[in-house]
Amino acid sequence: MKLVKHLANLGYGSRKQVALMFREGRITDAQGEVMYADDPLDHDNTRVDGEPLDPPQGLLIALHKPVGYTCSTKDPGRIVYDLLPPRYRLRSPLLSNVGRLDRDTSGLLLFTDDGALLHRISSPKSKLSKVYEATLASDLRGDEVELFAGGTLMLESEQTPLLPAELEIIDAGRVRLTLHEGRYHQVRRMFAAVGNHVAALHRSRIGGLALGGLPSGQWRALDEADRAALFNA
Ligand code: URA
Repeated sequence: MKLVKHLANLGYGSRKQVALMFREGRITDAQGEVMYADDPLDHDNTRVDGEPLDPPQGLLIALHKPVGYTCSTKDPGRIVYDLLPPRYRLRSPLLSNVGRLDRDTSGLLLFTDDGALLHRISSPKSKLSKVYEATLASDLRGDEVELFAGGTLMLESEQTPLLPAELEIIDAGRVRLTLHEGRYHQVRRMFAAVGNHVAALHRSRIGGLALGGLPSGQWRALDEADRAALFNA
């Protein structure tokens, strides 16, 4: 691949804009020598305005999503992409969120531009667990732990029962729920099915990967150790 195409794929601009950046001498090698649009790709040795390039394709990112952001590229309100560097929205292949969190849910959200990895994380076969902490509007009625663990609960307009899920009571009104699948609004619908209402919802873990100390609204690129942790729950 030519360097000009690589930079356009990383979101530095359209091919035309990136070609102009070459002509302006803004693309150099690590020693400061000007590079040319049709130079062969040498990712690690390329600089834009003296800065190393963004990570190449194969990116996996963890974001601590705050409440109030939508998992969408188009919503007119605040979107999760607003919390990533603007160039990341322009990358090709697309950097997409892996699964979704509702606008009113906070917590761990993953993004990747690696289709195989996206499939591996989100495929129903992977059964990667997801851990949620919920604040409930009403007291538990008492049979929820057993009911959620039973593997027979049917949600409205679904054709198959939910997989067994583990419910832990943290303290009055606060619970931790571990799911092994991801259906639409699943946590909220599970509590609605037992006559309750989720007042606040937060995802703290996917597989073996926790948010750790990542502050709300911040993101970080995940390395090999994080990826191993993700699948090693
Ligand atoms: N379940 C929900 O109800 N909402 C989320 O955002 C995630 C899981």
